[in-house]
Amino acid sequence: MGFATTAVHAGQEPDSATGAVTVPIYQTSTYAQDGLGKHKGFEYARTSNPTRLALERNIAALEGAQFGYAFASGMAAIDATLRLIKSGEHVIVSDNTYGGTYRLFTRILSNYGIQFDFVDTSDVSSVEAAIKENTRMVFVETPTNPVMIVTDLKAVSDVAHAAGARVVCDNTFMSPYLQRPMEFGVDIVVHSTTKFLNGHSDGVGGVVVLNNEDDAAWIAFVQNSAGAILSPFDSWLVLRGTKTLALRMEQHDKSGRAVAAFLEDHPKVQKIYYPGSVSHKQHALAKRQQKGFGSMVSFDVGSLEAARTVLESVKLCTLAESLGGVETLICHPATMTHASITLEARERLGITDGLVRISVGVEDTDDIIADLDQALAAI
Ligand SMILES: Cc1ncc(COP(=O)(O)O)c(C=O)c1O
Repeated sequence: MGFATTAVHAGQEPDSATGAVTVPIYQTSTYAQDGLGKHKGFEYARTSNPTRLALERNIAALEGAQFGYAFASGMAAIDATLRLIKSGEHVIVSDNTYGGTYRLFTRILSNYGIQFDFVDTSDVSSVEAAIKENTRMVFVETPTNPVMIVTDLKAVSDVAHAAGARVVCDNTFMSPYLQRPMEFGVDIVVHSTTKFLNGHSDGVGGVVVLNNEDDAAWIAFVQNSAGAILSPFDSWLVLRGTKTLALRMEQHDKSGRAVAAFLEDHPKVQKIYYPGSVSHKQHALAKRQQKGFGSMVSFDVGSLEAARTVLESVKLCTLAESLGGVETLICHPATMTHASITLEARERLGITDGLVRISVGVEDTDDIIADLDQALAAI
């Protein structure tokens, strides 16, 4: 089956009780049992819920994985994934990872004896050099948020596997429509479903998908034991979202290219960060590894004042954190999404005060460009 067919059908048989074509929202905490030890596969809704199960199967299929587990947020999914790591073990992480991931790793999980090293994973030799005897995981985000650094998933997977470490990829920015990390050897894929998978900015969620049976059993155990599950209603919203993922990503990608081309030529824009641009130093890798370039574009207008002018002059684009929704969202990473990263790290990564990040939505492309044009003219 092709991707769009899988998106519409995987995990979603018509309801066996009623024939409902759309998976119902099973808004229940528990399930009647026919007798002691006799049930229909569901006992208690923290452990399992049919709506959540449908979503888990759907996203696993989209990523080409066997197992999927849905969580209350992307961060809860990442936190559950890190429960594969024990005290005394070491994890290598992309140094330009999402601020919340950085915060979870450095401020919380490091208190429990897990060692983290943040390296430029786009340079495979840096990953190789950072590997220690106790390295058990390489956690990669590609392209990174917000400066769009691309990591070679195959090369990193080869290096990590040679050292006996699992590779995790946060595929939130691309979605499985544009990038399927497991095809390059990645072991575990995580998503903030809050973004492209839901696609409508109306729910927070996360998912972990993987193939290794032992690791999957542990993630399921963590999901049930710690209980950071996705609700039936939120699961249903994401399921509705994935049905149109292929259509939406085509449009996101098309408009992303047009907006990036407009920004690249604009005299008020000093620099753009977009892997689809031939000027991006990893354009060839992005082209090879991704089916498209997506709709995340960052651009530098030189100063906080200029960035403020753009962000406060847009009319169609909405000034807001988050990304991946049908509406175009624009934000200021240094003070919004990446405020939890130290100034020194922000400066090193290029997250300057003049940097603006845009998540291009599915409105008419010309309208988005016209709005950016008038906002840039106000600088
Ligand atoms: C790349 C990436 N990963 C993970 C997260 C965290 O997801 P959530 O906000 O659903 O917890 C985000 C949120 O912005 C993100 O951009």
